[in-house]
Amino acid sequence: MKQVAQKPGRIKTLKIDGRDVAGGENQVILDVAREHNIFIPTLCYIEGLSVSGGCRLCLVEITGIPKLVPSCTTRVEEGMEVFTDTERLRKYRMMMLELIFSERNHVCSVCVSNRNCELQSLARRLGMTHVRYPYRYPKLQVDASHNKFAIDHNRCTLCTRCSRICHDIEGAHTWSTMGRGINNRMITDLNQPWGETETCTSCGKCVNICPTGALFEKGKSVAEMVKKPKSLPYLLHTREES
Ligand code: SF4
Ligand code: SF4
Ligand code: FES
Repeated sequence: MKQVAQKPGRIKTLKIDGRDVAGGENQVILDVAREHNIFIPTLCYIEGLSVSGGCRLCLVEITGIPKLVPSCTTRVEEGMEVFTDTERLRKYRMMMLELIFSERNHVCSVCVSNRNCELQSLARRLGMTHVRYPYRYPKLQVDASHNKFAIDHNRCTLCTRCSRICHDIEGAHTWSTMGRGINNRMITDLNQPWGETETCTSCGKCVNICPTGALFEKGKSVAEMVKKPKSLPYLLHTREES
């Protein structure tokens, strides 16, 4: 994982969706697109945290490169011609989104994050009407051993935002992943119950950066969990100051 909060560097000029734009040589396509109000869907990416590049929702097309590339990990180049909204991309993103929904048990009507969920918003924005793939219906646990928070693995997208904010900002290194493929899970310490970990500081940063109802505060009922991801720039600022 690499840190993205870097100085922009020398200016590069490129085209995004036919528009002439400029960005620093250390910037990735996604950052430059956002600076110019060009929408690219994302799930795992959070500005200011290290980059995972895992969700593949931010893929773009670049003239001369046959494969789709993730805009959150690809730096801008002089003369680059980027496309963010083609038929091929729309199909691919819809497939990725539907696969995320089919992999776990996303039942929005009984979820703590209903109406306050980035995954749900993304599905709405991209026009997802149904899932074409068979649901896996895995039997996954809820770990409610922590005195303030809980994790419902049924809602987890494996975006790893929780582990990156815990590592990059809090420095606690509580979260990591275990297992491969469909057995991949977020774990605390060496797969201890969250409430028994020695590293968790109970700061709640992971809960607030989680895009779905996977991490939540205990006591919240259906649709009551509202996250505060916008506090991250403040946290980064205070960290740089100290
Ligand atoms: S996490 Fe989001 S998408 Fe999943 S069930 Fe909850 S509201 Fe729906
Ligand atoms: S618990 Fe939330 S932040 Fe962590 S990987 Fe799952 S969805 Fe992402
Ligand atoms: S946002 Fe780029 S791969 Fe997830």
